[in-house]
Amino acid sequence: MKLKIVKGTRDLYGDDMSRFQRLEDAARDVFNLYGYEEIRTPMFEKTELFAHGVGEDTDIVGKEMFLLEDRRGRSLALRPEMTASVVRSVITNNHMQQSTHRRFYYIGPMFRYEQPQKGRFRQFYQIGAEYFGVSSPDADLEILLMLRQFFQAIDLKTVSFQLNTIGCQLPECRPAFKNRLVAYLESKQDRLCENCQRRIHTNPLRVLDCKEEQCIALTADAPKIYEHVCEECDTHFTGLRQMMEAHEVEYSLNHKLVRGLDYYSRTVFEVYSENLGAQNAAGGGGRYDGLFEVYGSPIIPALGFALGLDRLAMLISETKPQPEGVFIIGHDRQAVTSLVAKTREAGYKSLYDPFQSSMKSQFRQANKANVTKVLILGEEELKANSVSVKNMLNGQQDSVNLDDILNYIA
Ligand code: HAM
Repeated sequence: MKLKIVKGTRDLYGDDMSRFQRLEDAARDVFNLYGYEEIRTPMFEKTELFAHGVGEDTDIVGKEMFLLEDRRGRSLALRPEMTASVVRSVITNNHMQQSTHRRFYYIGPMFRYEQPQKGRFRQFYQIGAEYFGVSSPDADLEILLMLRQFFQAIDLKTVSFQLNTIGCQLPECRPAFKNRLVAYLESKQDRLCENCQRRIHTNPLRVLDCKEEQCIALTADAPKIYEHVCEECDTHFTGLRQMMEAHEVEYSLNHKLVRGLDYYSRTVFEVYSENLGAQNAAGGGGRYDGLFEVYGSPIIPALGFALGLDRLAMLISETKPQPEGVFIIGHDRQAVTSLVAKTREAGYKSLYDPFQSSMKSQFRQANKANVTKVLILGEEELKANSVSVKNMLNGQQDSVNLDDILNYIA
């Protein structure tokens, strides 16, 4: 049997793992400041959760879900995203009974059957946050401020926000805009790509998002949704933009930003970095005030975002692990292992050669181990109940009484 990893998946270790850990630690620290609690939901859910929530017509549900059947023939899906799962959890666990507003964040793997390429995997990782219960644009601002603070914490300066509103379901809002857009698109119909010719009548907003060159050019002058939303949506969007300006949150308006999931209403945004290319967003999110209703639950205003960890990891600088701990060298196995145990129990990272190779080889390993000190338990040292300590940062060497070693390395 030839062992091979599944296409579109990868093992994370070494430098990639360190970058992931750095990003996860920063997210936990920053999100905690904003009152977010961590939530973990199952990696699979009933398929209908995503079909109804994310939308049957979206690529994510229509083409990209990993589906499985349980032993009783029920259809389950590996989660392609987690917003629907968190909403499900809010409903099934009555999270909103405890407070008028709740904030959750998550870190974990998602699954989409996409064509693998740079920054695109079939199992990928997201850091996401969802904020429930607040309909005013203060919540939208808070989410964007939190994201900005997170990017500052990971020292990422190349990111920029793109912002749009896609209005709501009221007849005078998105539905009216769609009619206007369809009329515009019909006038260009024969020059649009084949896919978009079909989408004019199934999902006209998606045409704005098409990556084909001719469609990008033909939709440049399309009517702008943010100029045609209803009064309430307009007040929300204008209010948010004013607050963003007051807080100096930089963004560019993008009337073509419509997102690839059906649950959004009002504010939508994406985060881009030049270094990822125009096709790959580092993250995205927005409001989904109507999603609870889709699941037959009373309306709860909500919004959130998710960031692609795999993509962020490509953007941050290499992580150079700082030298840490001690490496213990010696021939007397008993003496070495008891000093290793003693230092570990005292809270130090402590390494040694499990094969008791020659002293020369042990020194070589110690040099490579990225520790701050090497402790040498040679014959002389054992006789004198001492340890020779080599400081790997400045090369200084000292002889220390074995009983004082913990104080010395502190
Ligand atoms: P999304 O835009 O589908 O939104 O995904 C968010 C981010 O996940 C993307 O911007 C990208 O960085 C990353 N991502 C998506 N697919 C892949 C892939 N195949 N390989 C690597 N990275 C990928 C959502 O998932 C929404 N749930 C966000 C949200 C939360 N909206 C409201 N709350």
